[in-house]
Amino acid sequence: MKTQVKKTARRKSAIVIGTHNLHKLKEIKKILGPLPFDIQGLDQYPPAYTVRETGKTLEANALIKARAARKHTGRVCLSDDTGLEVKFLNGAPGVYSARFAGPKCSYQDNNRKLLQKLSRVPQSQRQAVFRCVVAVAFPGGEEQVFEGKCPGVIVDESKGSKGFGYDPLFKPLGQQKTFAQMPLYIKNKISHRYKAFRKAAQFLKTRKKSM
Ligand code: IMP
Repeated sequence: MKTQVKKTARRKSAIVIGTHNLHKLKEIKKILGPLPFDIQGLDQYPPAYTVRETGKTLEANALIKARAARKHTGRVCLSDDTGLEVKFLNGAPGVYSARFAGPKCSYQDNNRKLLQKLSRVPQSQRQAVFRCVVAVAFPGGEEQVFEGKCPGVIVDESKGSKGFGYDPLFKPLGQQKTFAQMPLYIKNKISHRYKAFRKAAQFLKTRKKSM
């Protein structure tokens, strides 16, 4: 009996990362890995579903995704929405980062468009910031949002093959390499997503007893 109680006490609470993007899931699992939670992906809750990101802000879209994942799984769910905000473009592509070059565009299409828009812009005016918002949705209805930012510059040609999205064009402040040139463990020490998910993780730790 004693052993059984001990085992129950040690069982990790499940939290679900509400994304179908496997690149993101990999990053997030690494960031949250050492925590006392069983981190699950939506791949463990078939069938896959689609969510329309109709929000006008990153916060709104993160909440849309976290609520959809909560409805689908019944678990505590975390979803992020991320945007690249380029100063010279007045914050664009921002919340439209995924569809910058059109409705069904690829990462390459987006990167090509961004390079074109900045083609005559000197290094000194190519500042940008990755902003990530994480929404946490509890089955009981409570919701929280957390933000992480990573400032940097847009380089003048694609560099590196790691990561995803705008990684080959984004050089974080104080780094010599783009996100796509650095190993994931380095990106995960400084990234917007790291900062936002760590805040969410600290918060979840304080709630662990009630989960
Ligand atoms: P999402 O809606 O949060 O998945 O992100 C919108 C778009 O931002 C993605 O389609 C990517 O192009 C880009 N993005 C998000 N996170 C990152 C990142 O960590 N590195 C590079 N691009 C990213």
